[in-house]
Amino acid sequence: MELYQYEKEHAAAVRELAAECTVLLKKDGRFPLASPGRIALYGSGARRTVKGGTGSGEVNSRYFVNVEQGLENAGFTITTKAWLDAYDRKADEARRLFVKEIRARARAKHVLAVMEGMGAVMPEPEYELPLDGAGDTAVYVLARISGEGADRRPVKGDVLLTDTEVRDILSLNRKYANFMLVLNVGGPVDLSPVKDVKNILILSQLGVETGNTLADLLLGRSCPSGKLTTTWAAWEDYPSVGSFGEINETRYKEGVFVGYRWFDSIGRQPLFSFGFGLGYTEFETSADGADEKSVLVTVRNTGRYPGKETVQLYIAPPCGGLPKPRRMLTTFAKTGLLQPGEAETLRLPYDLKDAASYDEGLAAFILEAGDYTVLLNDRPAVTLRLPETVVVRQLKNLLGKPDFTDWKPEAAHPLPAAATVLTLEPDSIPDETVSYVCVPSVEPEIVELSDKDLAKLTIGAFHSGGGIAGMIGNEAVSVAGAAGETAHVRQLPYLVMADGPAGLRISPDYTKDEKGVHAVGATLPDSFLEFLGGPARLLMKLVFRPKKGGKELLHQYCTAIPIGTAVAQSWNTALAERLGDIVGDEMERFGVRLWLAPALNIHRSILCGRNFEYFSEDPLISGKFAAAITRGVQKHPGCGTTVKHFAANNQEYNRTGSNSQVSERALREIYLRGFEICIRESSPCALMTSYNLLNGVHTAERRDLCVDVLRCEWGYRGIVMTDWVMQQVPSEKGGIHRNSLSDQVAAAGGSLFMPGSGDDWKRVLKAMKAGSLTRRQLEENASCVLRMARELTDAAARQ
Ligand code: BGC
Repeated sequence: MELYQYEKEHAAAVRELAAECTVLLKKDGRFPLASPGRIALYGSGARRTVKGGTGSGEVNSRYFVNVEQGLENAGFTITTKAWLDAYDRKADEARRLFVKEIRARARAKHVLAVMEGMGAVMPEPEYELPLDGAGDTAVYVLARISGEGADRRPVKGDVLLTDTEVRDILSLNRKYANFMLVLNVGGPVDLSPVKDVKNILILSQLGVETGNTLADLLLGRSCPSGKLTTTWAAWEDYPSVGSFGEINETRYKEGVFVGYRWFDSIGRQPLFSFGFGLGYTEFETSADGADEKSVLVTVRNTGRYPGKETVQLYIAPPCGGLPKPRRMLTTFAKTGLLQPGEAETLRLPYDLKDAASYDEGLAAFILEAGDYTVLLNDRPAVTLRLPETVVVRQLKNLLGKPDFTDWKPEAAHPLPAAATVLTLEPDSIPDETVSYVCVPSVEPEIVELSDKDLAKLTIGAFHSGGGIAGMIGNEAVSVAGAAGETAHVRQLPYLVMADGPAGLRISPDYTKDEKGVHAVGATLPDSFLEFLGGPARLLMKLVFRPKKGGKELLHQYCTAIPIGTAVAQSWNTALAERLGDIVGDEMERFGVRLWLAPALNIHRSILCGRNFEYFSEDPLISGKFAAAITRGVQKHPGCGTTVKHFAANNQEYNRTGSNSQVSERALREIYLRGFEICIRESSPCALMTSYNLLNGVHTAERRDLCVDVLRCEWGYRGIVMTDWVMQQVPSEKGGIHRNSLSDQVAAAGGSLFMPGSGDDWKRVLKAMKAGSLTRRQLEENASCVLRMARELTDAAARQ
């Protein structure tokens, strides 16, 4: 297989960048290895390595290097081929039974097996195989996979380790002089039974070159320098005050106390904290000076290996009247590669306003009077003393009320002030005012359109007539295997959209004729195909085979990049921008205008099946990484990102019909904040609303969210599109809430209803006729779509 030049370049870049996304949790100094030699390789991810999760984020890359191949490519001799073959047989059998069980469940419920199996995690099987690989070096690769449509479960073989895994890992840790546990996972597993293992590396899921990247790390050709962006704790230590996975109502009772904010507030030490990560080498970090705007930090490599270090600034707010997290991340930076003995000085600017709390009583962000201590990692660097409370942004309470009041910690944990205390003038903190009047303009061509054409522009192109293929994957006609596109109305420009976030998801092989492009090979994710029955699979094969008549087989090969969580674990926004750049380059090549990524929902619970696509439990990390990736993509003329899923979409169970009940405060400080940062810093071309309801109303149907917050408060100008709503899936698991409706979405100011169907279009026309939707509103929505389509199409054409 000869790769194209761009593929080689992208793969080489991904291989190098991915190393920085890995997190070393434990070390005993025996790694990196001096040279490749004999190695005993075990574990579910050794050969069946996972490159990324399942669902719409599954990228169809041309090849994939698993761990076994990666180690062999690097010159290792694997001494456990018999173990790997035997494990394959066990796993194949377990998979066969699992698929059978899903099909039986689906039959009993009268639903499609694809829907029942979507994202479902097959728990790892238990087995007994001899651990007899020769040599004194062993690596155990533990893999987990999850995906769209289902959540993870706190059971053995998913969040918990199986008895087999615990037994084998502990025994290998004793047996081999050099032993490393490698975690090929998209999110936390409960490591309590194996926490004392000598070396533990979160490899994560790194896309196309995952195996080669691990080999580079084991040999010290690159160094792990990632840090956790989500707390890794024993399962029972995670917060359980709010509900998760309820069919109808999901109550976010923990309020703003999400992730480390929760662990800090109850004084519980997790196994591995947010922000934690070792390197092969050691660093000393010191504050060389601090004022009310920045901290000067010097990082010195005091160890034996080269390495990069992350510096984190937190603000610890005063206790005050509103219950507050003990500390909040406010800035971070990463050094370049430091050789042993080398030092780097970084200036980290910060903004006290980032520590403001939302006061629902005042409907405003405020800084309460008291001491704000800036922490460099965990040490006080400077304290800012605010003599009186200041309003920094007056807003409105817009987003509805949950049926509970937020949980609050029993006791506050104030931190001692730093040695340097600076008293602030309250007047020196500027406040921001918001005008809630914003009147969008209408394009002249739009005014001239008939009602029918106007409505079409605001509904996806609905070529396939609906169905599961449209929900994920194949609703576009201009680019094979792209997720969707806008309607072709008269000669107006249109937009083609393809999924992510772990690369560009389109069909690798296709043919072209006068009717358009035709994907070859089903474009449904592999994880879906296996749940189709024999006849359906045969049909897929027939439909998606190369058409007769000697049509040339064409290709659009894309690069699978690391999953979202891994990218954020680098704590390196320049790295994220570079990955965005790779995706942007491939979008340009294949004519994709909007990438349906990045995804930046908060890791509220480690059980969310799509967490691997998302960045972190922290909104600052989420916003900064989404912005960096957006900058990377949007550097390319004619290419834009679609940030998703807006908002409070933190579980997969009954995702189209679950109602996230969240307080205005938690929304503004946690769940909306990442989107706000990303929008203000990088102006993404599009935004995708989420499937779920928010405090009783679908997010896509909330004018207060889609217009007042997005456009008036944040100044957002891009497209607001829905997630891929399928009306024939009433409410996925039979809950009480319906799906979003096209006329309601249009009335709420949503620009585009995706992927669209004839019924969605007719519903809009009917609403216009009945007067519940004005033509003017639809003109505004369509103008937004047209403006973006024109801007991106013209920019691409100028290239
Ligand atoms: C997912 C989106 C995705 C869309 C198009 C939906 O099911 O939730 O994230 O972009 O499908 O494939």
